[in-house]
Amino acid sequence: MEGRLNTTGYSQEMDEEIEIKLRPSSFDQYIGQDKVKENMQVFVQAALGRGETLDHVLLYGQPGLGKTTLSSIIAGAMGAQLKITTGPAIERPGDIAATLNDLNEGDFLFIDEIHRLNRTVEEMLYSAMEDFVFDIIIGKGPGAKSIRLELPRFTLIGATTRIGLLTAPLRDRFGVVHHLEPYSVSDLQKIIIRSAAVLDVEIEPSGAEEIARRARGTPRIVNRLLKRVRDFAQVQYDGIITENVARASLDKLEIDRLGLDTVDKKILLAIIEKFGGGPVGLDTLAASIDEEAGTLEDVAEPYLLQLGFIQRTPRGRTATRLAYTHLGVPCLQ
Ligand code: ADE
Repeated sequence: MEGRLNTTGYSQEMDEEIEIKLRPSSFDQYIGQDKVKENMQVFVQAALGRGETLDHVLLYGQPGLGKTTLSSIIAGAMGAQLKITTGPAIERPGDIAATLNDLNEGDFLFIDEIHRLNRTVEEMLYSAMEDFVFDIIIGKGPGAKSIRLELPRFTLIGATTRIGLLTAPLRDRFGVVHHLEPYSVSDLQKIIIRSAAVLDVEIEPSGAEEIARRARGTPRIVNRLLKRVRDFAQVQYDGIITENVARASLDKLEIDRLGLDTVDKKILLAIIEKFGGGPVGLDTLAASIDEEAGTLEDVAEPYLLQLGFIQRTPRGRTATRLAYTHLGVPCLQ
């Protein structure tokens, strides 16, 4: 097997190839997020009917909910190209100038993690978004000159997991703002059944539901779990993903019946055992389990909050009675 190996023994390239195959390519194939999908279809149809470009779109929500996938579907429905970049990749004014200069009329520019754009670059985007012009300053001091570049009309799609970190002037320049919600178990079950068909894996509805229940509302996780359960089904069973096969495989992956993994449990146990149930500050908590504060806040915490296992207070995170019960730890408070 060629290429870099990840912990599952699959080559990274192979996983990425599968990922692309599983991605829906039209609104019809896209399961869930019904309100967002219905609204976006209206805006696309209206813009096409008027022969205009679509207004700028801001999508926010937890990682893995399909912001990039939805963006490529929107661009496809408009018959346009999607160019993809991320906030941290656009470091200097020259980077944003080059990115915008590369756009053609009607193109879509997708900026992931748009909350991580630096302030100078962000301010340069304002006139590009509003008036499709871009001012370049040449030179410094009193002799500095400003040159105005006309840009083609384009649509910016900004994606973020942290809407609260966006400045008001940037947020206000998006004509469409949508929040992607965690998926229901029944939508995730439909996604797995679709993905299993794409991968040519046999799966029973109860097997799909078992995986869906442990996927923490996230299509990216559901598809990842499906690939790993498929491995167990192939090597240790007869290839068919039944409820029992799904349950046994997920238990081996140490993903519990609510979808908590070892990192989630480490977080909860640290709050309970090291900090007496909290409150404990995010940075202290992250350092105590050797994780990045940002990862903890963006990846693990939203689901723990959603389950009501932790609370955010002004003095830090606390573990709730529900967390103690789930972990089987007596709550002495
Ligand atoms: N794969 C990942 N996300 C999906 C979605 N929302 N619908 C169908 N397949 C998907």
